[in-house]
Amino acid sequence: MSRDEIIHDGVSIKIYGTDEEDKVIVRFTDDITAYYKIKKAVIKDKGLYCNCISSMICRALEKGGVPTYFIRQLSDTEQLCYRADVIPMEVIVRNVIAGSLAQRLGLQEGTVPESPIYDLCYKSEPLCDPIINDYHAIALGLVTREELDVIYDLTHKVNDILRPLFAGIGITLVDFKIEFGRLADGRLVVADEITPDNARFWDMETGMRLDKDRFRHDNGQVGPAYKTVYERLKTVADVQ
Ligand code: C5P
Repeated sequence: MSRDEIIHDGVSIKIYGTDEEDKVIVRFTDDITAYYKIKKAVIKDKGLYCNCISSMICRALEKGGVPTYFIRQLSDTEQLCYRADVIPMEVIVRNVIAGSLAQRLGLQEGTVPESPIYDLCYKSEPLCDPIINDYHAIALGLVTREELDVIYDLTHKVNDILRPLFAGIGITLVDFKIEFGRLADGRLVVADEITPDNARFWDMETGMRLDKDRFRHDNGQVGPAYKTVYERLKTVADVQ
């Protein structure tokens, strides 16, 4: 792997190789898209806010015993991470009903389920990332039963760490999406960023949306909302 070789050319993150085979650089961009990339924009400093938010969250997860691919923040928009073989499966945790689940089940946004709801999606652009269940995930060869048990256990822990962390800064962690990967030694880790791009954050007092829904629904103030999450998190999280 040569330095600067692009490994993943995504919209909001790009991943580059380094001189070390087992490490990559994750670079956060200011680009944002929604509705399968039909809607596009550039949000000034989004890359900086997301990199810092994700770095603080990964440090909190590591501290709480959840392994992640994160090593350290390198700059405003870059972090050094372990190279992971990412499983093409999204794990979504919902503490409050919102978004596609509200639509799919005809539920009121804001309804709090008795316990968090977990969804799995198969990452496949041609299939538009269909929802799958445990049996599909295993049948598709994405994971073994044992790996899925570890994934659910770690996801549960992520939620248990992040919910109180955000509650402490006046934000409800409504839902979030994470992906897992295998390191060279086969160990499963969270191999994803958690930012307002892939989580819903609602201000506890005002109900203001502090996430990508502002962009999806043309509410404006996208950058300032991301900045609010960053500024508040900075008051309670490890920044180094
Ligand atoms: O779209 P839906 O309401 O199911 O999204 C649930 C959560 O997962 C949201 O926070 C959304 O941003 C995130 N998500 C994501 N990437 C996807 C699908 C959902 O980050 N492909």
